[in-house]
Amino acid sequence: MKVQCENVEKYYLAGSNVVKALRGLSCSITSGRLAAVVGPSGSGKTTLLNLIGALDRPTRGKIMVDGLHLETLSREKANEYRKEYIGFVFQRFNLVPYLSVLENIILPAYLAKKGKKKALVDRAVEIMENLNIVDKSGKMPNELSGGEQQRVAIARALLMNPKILLADEPTGELDRETGRVIISILKEIADSGKIVIVATHDPEISNVADYVIKLRDGKRVSE
Ligand SMILES: Nc1ncnc2c1ncn2[C@@H]1O[C@H](COP(=O)(O)OP(=O)(O)OP(=O)(O)O)[C@@H](O)[C@H]1O
Ligand SMILES: [Mg+2]
Repeated sequence: MKVQCENVEKYYLAGSNVVKALRGLSCSITSGRLAAVVGPSGSGKTTLLNLIGALDRPTRGKIMVDGLHLETLSREKANEYRKEYIGFVFQRFNLVPYLSVLENIILPAYLAKKGKKKALVDRAVEIMENLNIVDKSGKMPNELSGGEQQRVAIARALLMNPKILLADEPTGELDRETGRVIISILKEIADSGKIVIVATHDPEISNVADYVIKLRDGKRVSE
């Protein structure tokens, strides 16, 4: 499988101003690879992740995933695409504070009626074991360290076995050592055959990445 962007442009309207967040970006990322999207604040990293996650559509250009043209998807088809293909991980973990770790992990899939509760729990336990957080299963998010919370968020993103994991600054809130643990987990996830795309300022991620997509003002600079 492949994610392929061709001359992608994304303009936002901000009042009467047009913000050119992406200005003709091309890239190609295949399964089993980790891609780091780097560049200064405002260079278009989050915009690119949102487009690949079909949360938004490009203004111009093509984004192809597994034969699907994301730039043409209806809202409904975009929802289906996200459910089947995409897992998201954010900088601020976004866990529900009054639900346990296990509940946080299975909630989105449960709400989306993606299978029976028992099967979801079994799969959650397997993923928690892989991420070394199974002993945290009954804890509440505020009882966990930042790195543990991020592992819970990764487990939640992996529950439905997405083909693509999108992570926006996943180590932004973590200390160096904890960041390293998260990076090695993301690398393992890519090695298991998924596409992992990480927007980051963290040079440690660029070091392990198979591709580095370096942005400046919405354009790719060499690398
Ligand atoms: N919804 C929006 N409406 C208007 N402008 C936007 C919107 N989202 C992003 N932008 C603008 O598009 C440009 C790219 O933003 P983006 O969030 O993709 O950058 P980024 O590389 O992720 O930055 P950071 O490192 O700070 O997260 C910026 O100039 C930003 O202000
Ligand atoms: Mg961003």
